[in-house]
Formats: sequence, structure tokens, C-alpha cells
Amino acid sequence: MDKKTKIIAIANHKGGCGKTTTTVNLASELAKIGLSVLMIDLDPQANASLHIGKDHPSEVSVTIAELLLSEKEKLPLAVHDDTHIKGVSLIYGSLELGKAEDKLKDDAPRPSEELREKINPLIGLYDVILIDCPPSLKLLTSNALAAATDLIIPIESGSQYGLYGVTDLLHHLQKIHRINPDLNLLGALLIRHDQRLTVCKLIEGAAKDQIGKLIPVKIPSSTKINQAAMAQTSIREIDHTAKVAREFRRLALWLAEALDLSTDEQNQNVGLDMEADDE
Ligand SMILES: Nc1ncnc2c1ncn2[C@@H]1O[C@H](COP(=O)(O)OP(=O)(O)OP(=O)(O)O)[C@@H](O)[C@H]1O
Ligand SMILES: [Mg+2]
Repeated sequence: MDKKTKIIAIANHKGGCGKTTTTVNLASELAKIGLSVLMIDLDPQANASLHIGKDHPSEVSVTIAELLLSEKEKLPLAVHDDTHIKGVSLIYGSLELGKAEDKLKDDAPRPSEELREKINPLIGLYDVILIDCPPSLKLLTSNALAAATDLIIPIESGSQYGLYGVTDLLHHLQKIHRINPDLNLLGALLIRHDQRLTVCKLIEGAAKDQIGKLIPVKIPSSTKINQAAMAQTSIREIDHTAKVAREFRRLALWLAEALDLSTDEQNQNVGLDMEADDE
């Protein structure tokens, strides 16, 4: 039976707010609870590809850059099922995405709708497609938002500048609603959140006011995040008892429920009964 694929864009043009970390660890947790997951790396920096891909992005013949500029026939060559994270497939990002973005702007009949068009045959094959967006509000992000069914906006909660520019993102979203009226804002996801810190509490309140919706799971800060990226794995594989691993699991479970995705019940509680013992 065809799956009712949800396409979730992880977007915020503010650099370094946790988009890639969220995409990778959420993908891993969604796979662990029994969902089939594809990750699309739409960032020229290709950090998500460097994190979970078994090949170097520069050596991959069909990345998302080639796919965006080619016919749909290239799609099967673009999807790599064998990655460092079990159960997570990958369409690689590439430095060439910058050039692809310029070409789309000049040549494509509907520049913002190429991704939607190209990945359409994947609908029904995966439970979830996660799109890691670049730190810009240009055409690549527009393509992600036009293709997505749902949107998560990561906000760096530990920084006083965490919400800087968010109104631009919300304006952009309004424009995208004209081509993708069903796009559902799941909410802001607070990253590096620590309830004890005043700055985090202030950002939490401001995020609720400005974005309107807060995801009821908050991701704490942890040095294990960088360790996991260097080891090309998920935080869970580095330390499954870490609070941050547990919160990513809770995020996956919340999402599965919010989007009505049927998970593998046996795996649902893995990690949730652990004591929080992060650094
Ligand atoms: N919860 C966290 N705790 C500690 N460090 C984190 C956390 N989340 C992300 N980081 C670190 O912050 C940096 C930025 O994270 P990440 O690359 O996920 O952000 P990004 O939004 O994808 O950045 P870019 O805009 O460049 O694509 C990375 O070094 C990452 O390891
Ligand atoms: Mg990133």
C-alpha cells in the first residue's frame, strides 16, 4: 500500500541555528521508531551529506543539484539507500547547488516549483521526507517550502539573536502559501534550550508570540552533538542515555502523532525511560 508521505522542511535562514543537526537526528529517530525516511540535503554546504553519506558529495554523480536541472529520469540515481544511519536514505547536497539555483532562476518555467516536480514520484514510497534547507531565503528554500507538506523552524534559544530575521521568514512563508496553500507550520523548535536560563525563557515567549506555535519538545545543548557529527552517526549511537538523545526521540514520537504516521509500537519507548544525565 502507498504511504501517505509527509515532506517536512527544516528551515530558517539564520545560520547555525540547528537545522542540520535536527534533520539528521530526527531522521535517525524516525527510522528507529519504524518509519521509512528519506533526507534531502538542499544546502550547498552539504553538511547533512557529509554527516550521513558514505560518499563524499563531490564524488556523487547525481546530487540534488543535478536532479533539479535534469529530467525526472535521474531520480532513481539520486536516491542512496546505504548511509551511515540505518533506515535513512539520502539525496546528496552539493556545492553545485549555488549554480543550480542561478540556472533555475534564469531558465525554469516555475523556478520555485522544480523540487516539488522532481520528487513527486517519491510520494507514496516513504513515510517521511526531511529537507535540510540552506541558511538563506532564496530560491532553494522557496523550493523546499513549495514542496513541503509541513515546516519546522529551529530557533536557537540560548542566543539573544535567536529570533533575528524571523519576521522575514514569516513574510516569505506568506508568499509561498500562494503556491503551496496547504503548507502546515508545525511550529518553532527551540534548540540549545535550558529552562533555567533567562535568555531561553525570553526567547521561548517571544518565539510563541512571533511564530504563533511552539513544538512541545525542546532540544537541550550538548557537546555530544559535535561528537556525533564527527563520528558520522546519531547522538543516540554516541550515548543513548543522553538527555539530548531522549529529546530527539520525543520529537520523533510527537511528530508521528501530530502527522498521524503509524509507527512500530515496540520501539516507541526506547530511550524514554532513561534518566537525564547529560553534561
Ligand atoms: N543542541 C545543540 N547543542 C550543542 N551544539 C549544537 C546543538 N545543535 C547544534 N549544535 C552545533 O551548532 C552548530 C550549528 O548547528 P547546525 O549545523 O545544525 O546548524 P544549521 O542551522 O544547519 O547551520 P547552517 O545554517 O550553516 O546550515 C554545529 O556546530 C552544531 O554541532
Ligand atoms: Mg545546516
